[in-house]
Amino acid sequence: MRLLGSIRRRLFIQLALVAAVLSLAFFLVVRGVAERAAEGTQDDILSASATAIADSLRSEGGIVTLDLPYSALSMLGSINEDRVFYRVVSEGNTLTGYADLPQPEVPPRLSLPSFETLDYRGDEIRAASVIRPVGTGAQAAQVVVTVAQTRQGLAAISRQITSTATGIGVGFFLLATALSLWAAGSALAPITRITGSVTRRGPNDLRPVNANAPDELEPLIDALNSFMARLRSSLSRTEDFIAEAAHRVRTPLATVRAQAEITHRKLNKPEHKQAIREMIRAIDESSRSAGQMLDHAMVTFRADSLAQDTLDLRALMVETCDRLGPTADLKDIAILRDIGAGPVPFTGDGILLQAALQNILDNAIKYSPDDSNITARVVLDDAITLSFTDQGRGFGETDLTGLTTRYTRGANVGDIVGSGLGLTIADEVAKAHGGRLEISTNKKGEGACVSLVFPRD
Ligand SMILES: Nc1ncnc2c1ncn2[C@@H]1O[C@H](COP(=O)(O)OP(=O)(O)OP(=O)(O)O)[C@@H](O)[C@H]1O
Ligand SMILES: [Mg+2]
Repeated sequence: MRLLGSIRRRLFIQLALVAAVLSLAFFLVVRGVAERAAEGTQDDILSASATAIADSLRSEGGIVTLDLPYSALSMLGSINEDRVFYRVVSEGNTLTGYADLPQPEVPPRLSLPSFETLDYRGDEIRAASVIRPVGTGAQAAQVVVTVAQTRQGLAAISRQITSTATGIGVGFFLLATALSLWAAGSALAPITRITGSVTRRGPNDLRPVNANAPDELEPLIDALNSFMARLRSSLSRTEDFIAEAAHRVRTPLATVRAQAEITHRKLNKPEHKQAIREMIRAIDESSRSAGQMLDHAMVTFRADSLAQDTLDLRALMVETCDRLGPTADLKDIAILRDIGAGPVPFTGDGILLQAALQNILDNAIKYSPDDSNITARVVLDDAITLSFTDQGRGFGETDLTGLTTRYTRGANVGDIVGSGLGLTIADEVAKAHGGRLEISTNKKGEGACVSLVFPRD
């Protein structure tokens, strides 16, 4: 992208270059045409003047005479301040005028005056010559009339034309440049519009883009849409896979475990009983790991495109306590509910929040001794705090900050089965909802207190 630079800039530069070339061509054409027109005008007047002089030639008894008509030269004077020269030559002899005015190199023909540009007396002059036979029969003489004029007037006209053409050319260029800037911007406007409509989307909005796109962008939009469709289906396949895998791993392992328990009860030899106990523990560990890993995958997946359900956090606490009630009962642990009465409204992902609470309560039960109490608490102040306080072994010397790292277990776990993902899950869920996980020792005596803290809606 960087390498190619900005399309807008390239488009602008190309259009401006075209404008510059056109302006230059315009300037050259206008100047050329205008100068040729001015030159043509001077030539016309010069030849008219020469013809007028030729018309006044007479032959009297074989001698060519000329009564120079005033108007012939005054018509030249009338256009500007230029100096005028003339010469009338009959058969090589100058009848009148400037004897040193050069004769035309290309002699004129009868009906066709000749024109020349030459240097004369330090100035550039333009000369027109006509030829006229004067007299009749053998006495006829070929008379060449040359009228010339300096070209200052023409140069002045040419300068004026040049400056006007330059002005118009520059103006044209500036206007075209401004239009190019606008054109480059407006040609790229659809890209900006489409980019905007894609960037404004939420992270889980994978609907096809159906912005009004120009034909050239259709393939890009189609590619983007088909990419999003593939992403959508791949994401939903991943989600299905996670749910499916969790189910398919847990169920058979539970069956194997139940069978192992039954076998354990039936066996008498202590070494056989020990072997089955180890087997049951291995089953517990692998079932736990598989379950937690899949839950963690589910949390990571859902946190990327967080659902925005309208929830009651208090109801969620009740549900968690109810779900794990049977597990707690197995150890004669009472879950005391200090959770107030009214609903605690919150917007978030119910499945994720449920997973977080369940993992925290699961820890409290796991790491508590039989016949103890766990207090589930909901505190509403500036924030919403959902906590579980137990009377278990506490964290001991364990570094509390590291417990949210994946697969990290405390030094206090003893022979309790676990995979070190529970608090990682709870922490990720808290962060996805703009909250945090707080881990501390129970201030009133033994045990741990683990809380989820969320900002209030
Ligand atoms: N209520 C608690 N009392 C004492 N220690 C706890 C408590 N909760 C968590 N811990 C400590 O924090 C560690 C991390 O907890 P976490 O839930 O992440 O992992 P786990 O319980 O070992 O494994 P699992 O992924 O199966 O839950 C535990 O290994 C334990 O040392
Ligand atoms: Mg745990």
